[in-house]
Amino acid sequence: MTDRLTTAGRGVARFSAVSRPRYGVDGWPYVVGLTVASAVLAVVAVSVPRPRVVAGVAALLPGVPAFLGLRYVVTGKLRLRDLVLDQLAWSGGEVVVDLGAGGGLLGLGATARTTGTVHLVDLFVGKDLSGNCTRRLDRNIAILGVQDRVRVHRRDVRATGLPDGCADAVLSSLCIHNLAEAPERADALDEAIRLLRPGGTLVISDLANVVGEYAPRLRAAGLQVDTSRAPATFPPQRIVVARKSR
Ligand SMILES: C[S@@+](CC[C@H](N)C(=O)[O-])C[C@H]1O[C@@H](n2cnc3c(N)ncnc32)[C@H](O)[C@@H]1O
Repeated sequence: MTDRLTTAGRGVARFSAVSRPRYGVDGWPYVVGLTVASAVLAVVAVSVPRPRVVAGVAALLPGVPAFLGLRYVVTGKLRLRDLVLDQLAWSGGEVVVDLGAGGGLLGLGATARTTGTVHLVDLFVGKDLSGNCTRRLDRNIAILGVQDRVRVHRRDVRATGLPDGCADAVLSSLCIHNLAEAPERADALDEAIRLLRPGGTLVISDLANVVGEYAPRLRAAGLQVDTSRAPATFPPQRIVVARKSR
């Protein structure tokens, strides 16, 4: 699949399938484990005379989630990126913060929608995303040719060090659930709210806690909040869009 980012008018970013950005496999230890388990069981299913059907069905149990996870990585991530970015009314020049950016899926996608500065915040945790490191992110930035308007911050999403109200848009995908305790996740949401300027928009996509934790906390902070499902994601994700009043 050719990943071609466009923007109306200026700052068009294009890249071929050969040198396209790589955004990694989310939760790769699980995806690899499920794929290996499925492959082993499939080999058993074709090797043993009986009970071949039982082994075949057993191979499907890890095989189906492994396939869906890989499909999300190959095509679903790009659809999710576009869905998240479509939640904003871009007018050009927006300052964007991507919390838990990884390979820059959302933040680098935003560079095709705005000419403003994009801040990518991450601690580059290896278990959360395959190949997760600043070198891969720098490569993605270079492929897109947006070095002049992207800043990488090796910081915790709960303490980004960025100024109050600096962002027109704060984005995050599959990051905040990695914080194990509810108070830690609340701190990440409070940091996102702090970064948003009045009138700014926060969009979070995640596989857990969106309806039960994120939406109520954002509402309690006075933001206008909507939640929805994100199709073609696996594990299934939900999106919360929160707007800060002016
Ligand atoms: C599953 S990856 C998702 C990356 C990217 N948002 C995407 O959708 O492709 C989760 C990211 O969150 C980052 N992360 C996890 N906990 C973090 C924390 N407390 N502070 C900063 N980054 C964190 C990980 O390093 C990883 O890059």
